[in-house]
Amino acid sequence: MGLWIFLLIAFLIIGISSLVYFYKKILAAVKYFDKGASRLKKHLITTGLFILSLIPAFFSFVKWFIIFLHFTVFLLLCDLAKAVVRRINKGKSVSYPGWMKIAYKTGAVALLLTCAVYVYGRYNMYHIERTDYDVTIDKPFSQEYTAALIADLHYGISLNKEQLQHQADLIEEASPDFVILCGDIVDENTTLEGMKEAFAILGGIKSRYGNYYVYGNHDSGIFRSKPNFTVEQLEQTIENCGITVLKDESATINNEMLLIGRKDRQFGERKDIDELTKDADFTKLLLIADHQPNDYLKLDKAGCDMIVSGHTHGGQIFPFGVLGELSGANDMTYGYRKVGNLNAFVTSGIAGWGFDLRTQKHSEYVLIHIKSK
Ligand SMILES: [Fe+2]
Repeated sequence: MGLWIFLLIAFLIIGISSLVYFYKKILAAVKYFDKGASRLKKHLITTGLFILSLIPAFFSFVKWFIIFLHFTVFLLLCDLAKAVVRRINKGKSVSYPGWMKIAYKTGAVALLLTCAVYVYGRYNMYHIERTDYDVTIDKPFSQEYTAALIADLHYGISLNKEQLQHQADLIEEASPDFVILCGDIVDENTTLEGMKEAFAILGGIKSRYGNYYVYGNHDSGIFRSKPNFTVEQLEQTIENCGITVLKDESATINNEMLLIGRKDRQFGERKDIDELTKDADFTKLLLIADHQPNDYLKLDKAGCDMIVSGHTHGGQIFPFGVLGELSGANDMTYGYRKVGNLNAFVTSGIAGWGFDLRTQKHSEYVLIHIKSK
């Protein structure tokens, strides 16, 4: 909770200072282009332009805020570059060509850079990659297993029905032995129809040993006062689509692998890993599906072989991935890591939360090829 309060205060301070700075930049541009205007007229024009720039926020506040912050940072960098040149010139004013002055005063450079980030962010979100991992486990089992890992679809943000079906077809073509839907498949903004659509498509992926689901922190719509569907509707839909819901429960795969799906750590009580594995047969491969990548040391100590997670989105927007790593909120933000004998995987997700942009990590689905030593 402390981290969330810190982030909220930090965002408020950053947001308000950015708005003040942005107003001043517009005023400076107005003064440059309309030197003869009265003080009142300059402020009226500035206020008008300022309000105009806020209008998109009413349609998608978070997306607008992200774009606005990028624009402000680029404006700041232009100011910084100007200050550096002035310093190099020992404080004397530098004579810039006319086009450069206009580009600076209008914020055109910052705007161009923001557009470039926007295009890159959308490309990263919609260009879904297939990521393959090979892992060898020091336990005997009869065959190589391919696990398909899908997380953080947040259905309704980016992919539509056809696009999701296309990804599902690609996953099916890879012949997975089982599919793990590792949480945040839907969220507080997904409609009831959307939720049914998403699970119908994902449940339709053919696999040899079944498709499994664990909750993320968003699926139950807890961040909305009136969720679009109830938890009962969600679970009934998932099960009707042939997907097994694992809530601190386990499923045995081909009698030689134990898949333990954990409840999300953010909400309510959940069983400790020792309790979850107290009756486990440790000669079997022990695979944990947990939306949030945590407890790695505990899992290793408990004798688990693998954990798969999502949740982090690989950061989604720079520098959140870096901040996430530094804060230690999760044990890993993206990729693969071995902790003792535990093989840990975190996917950046097949989409993202809140808006269809991502500047950290691509969208992906993951295929893990599990071999016996
Ligand atoms: Fe998510």
